[in-house]
Amino acid sequence: MNTDPVDYICSAIRSVPDWPKPGITFRDITPVLQDPRSFRVLVDMFVYRYMRQRLDLVAGVDARGFILGSVLAYELNLGFVPVRKKGKLPFETVAEEYTLEYGNATVEMHTDAVRPGQRVVLIDDLIATGGTMMAAIKLLQRLGANVVEAAAIIDLPELGGSKVVRETGLPLYTVCS
Ligand code: PRP
Ligand code: ADE
Ligand code: MG
Repeated sequence: MNTDPVDYICSAIRSVPDWPKPGITFRDITPVLQDPRSFRVLVDMFVYRYMRQRLDLVAGVDARGFILGSVLAYELNLGFVPVRKKGKLPFETVAEEYTLEYGNATVEMHTDAVRPGQRVVLIDDLIATGGTMMAAIKLLQRLGANVVEAAAIIDLPELGGSKVVRETGLPLYTVCS
């Protein structure tokens, strides 16, 4: 029986070749979420990591970062703030454009999502080029957040994003690479 939590989660991630474009190997977290045990192990790992960090908020990146991010916020008794794709938030927003492994996009946050100095952990499912994570970090920092750590389930180190984030001096936590 595999009792190592990291192996348990990482072995459940599915690799889909040539999706969404030829040459991209897509790392699919849906099997981790679908299995109640691996989903619980994943959430618990993040809860234990952040339960003593005196956080104020969890931020999650649209869309896959919402899944773990919102459950984590609930478990830590914290609020959750969404970093959304362009055009979805109804109130006053700040925006950052970025490129990612297979395209480009813009993310937005409500201007009142974070109060200056609030301690925030940023959650996404995966870091590839780091474009998405860096855009979300910039948005949070523009709003005055103290981004304590950025975190993703999966790192694709060959795409350089984790290095880019760590070079800014911000801690980055990932589980599978
Ligand atoms: C994916 C993934 C990360 C991002 C990583 O999101 O969920 O957010 O790409 O790529 P990067 O490090 O090169 O920026 P995507 O926008 O494709 O889709 P989603 O809405 O399913 O999260
Ligand atoms: N986002 C960017 N690159 C990705 C990949 N290879 N698999 C899943 N999501 C991604
Ligand atoms: Mg995403």
